[in-house]
Amino acid sequence: MWAVVFDLDGVLVDTAKLHAEAWRRLAGELGISLSEEFLRSLRGLNRMDSLDRILEWGGRTEVGPAERERLAERKNRWYVESLEHLTPRDVLPGVVELLDGLAFYRVPVAVASSSKNARLVLERTGLAKRFSVVVDGNAVLRAKPDPTIFLEAFRRLGVFPQDGVVVEDAASGVEAARRAGARVVGVGRPEELPGADLVVSDLRELTVARLKALVDSAAP
Ligand code: G6P
Ligand code: MG
Repeated sequence: MWAVVFDLDGVLVDTAKLHAEAWRRLAGELGISLSEEFLRSLRGLNRMDSLDRILEWGGRTEVGPAERERLAERKNRWYVESLEHLTPRDVLPGVVELLDGLAFYRVPVAVASSSKNARLVLERTGLAKRFSVVVDGNAVLRAKPDPTIFLEAFRRLGVFPQDGVVVEDAASGVEAARRAGARVVGVGRPEELPGADLVVSDLRELTVARLKALVDSAAP
């Protein structure tokens, strides 16, 4: 049996830009300006790791733990507010077709996301009913690029990671998936996703057959 594990933000749903907007707003209040490239490098990292990177980048390493908690909560409030406008129209191109194909062939699928808001995003976009296995930032303490989140998703699916494919838009997620021993499809720009076995611009380029071929190409 083989399986597919999907990242959520920026792979299934167009929420990566909402995270980026909220971080940019918070950084702006701290007098730190963030480039698009820097914001993309935050993808996949959990909330606190992202904030730590921003403060380091902005030379604000003196900010203490209690203030960091407050800042992270502030960013999260804005992000959750922006989710109020989320609908099934925010599901990214090709996602529904690919999930339909995988369901037709009874290929098990899971979501593995660093976000503590993953369930809310899945509910609001109507994707929740398609996934019996969801491993999110509430379930796993060690964040990507640590492989734990993907190992846990494959464990719950009852499939060896070596027999699986992960679909990821973040460099940290590609690294985590490789360390878990799975094949990886990167979504985005090849130069920003080193280590991916295949890179596509969006899920319209993926088919069940293409994913299966990737699993079959894995070294025995
Ligand atoms: C995802 C996103 C990150 C986000 C992280 C934590 O991995 O790609 O940009 O920081 O989840 O999300 P949360 O909703 O828990 O703050
Ligand atoms: Mg992502």
